Amino acid sequence: MPDENGSAANEHAGRVREMFASIASRYDLLNHLLSGNVDKRWRRLVATRVREKLSSRSARVLDVACGTGDLSLTLFEITGAGVVGTDFCRPMLDIAAGKTSGRIRFIEGDALDLPFRDGTFDVATIAFGLRNLSNVESGLAELSRVLKPGGWVAVLEFSRPANALLRPVFNLYFRKVLPWIGRVVSGSRNAYSYLPASVQKFPDQSQLSLLMERAGFVQVGYENLTGGIAALHMGRRPD
Ligand SMILES: C[S@@+](CC[C@H](N)C(=O)[O-])C[C@H]1O[C@@H](n2cnc3c(N)ncnc32)[C@H](O)[C@@H]1O
Repeated sequence: MPDENGSAANEHAGRVREMFASIASRYDLLNHLLSGNVDKRWRRLVATRVREKLSSRSARVLDVACGTGDLSLTLFEITGAGVVGTDFCRPMLDIAAGKTSGRIRFIEGDALDLPFRDGTFDVATIAFGLRNLSNVESGLAELSRVLKPGGWVAVLEFSRPANALLRPVFNLYFRKVLPWIGRVVSGSRNAYSYLPASVQKFPDQSQLSLLMERAGFVQVGYENLTGGIAALHMGRRPD
């Protein structure tokens, strides 16, 4: 029987899974609409950075919390590597599979208990997924476990705008305008209010770097995207 922490984690996971299942069919449209297509640029940057870390085309890349597979597909197109996507929400994975016509394997799985052996992948990515886990530290440990020694992790997440002028404008958009558009287009009352609330609770650039170092990653660094609205963190599992 799960302990109190375990059952709270299970409840959290159940709520998150249900929420993404309820918006799966509108997820891509809303991503592109709400970000003015900037999300595509962010995913291309992740794939470009991943390509810089790969030494061979036979490398294996895991995209965790892959959702509808946009990053998985971009990784496949830009790196030419073998890409596997995993997510625990079946309706999101079904959309991913429909887009990629068998070029990418999608496997249902929990980011906190990945269905892969230790040391399987050269690179593991997680885009807008870490924030949704009941335990960020456990998520980072699990990413590290499935990486080969010397492998790289790439975490793309919303973060804190660095520019003092951009911050209030962004906050107004993110906390007021975005939830309203999200609710109207997706029909979900909660999903697009959950988004700014979960970003607010998530570690900022320096805190996430620290958590990655505590999880054992070395050469940890980040780059701000669009003034720090999002950040790409990378780190290497030691040899
Ligand atoms: C905001 S979406 C991001 C999807 C995709 N990576 C992207 O960039 O569009 C978050 C995804 O994380 C997945 N997710 C959340 N918690 C998870 C967990 N514990 N294990 C696996 N997937 C999870 C959700 O099902 C959802 O598809």
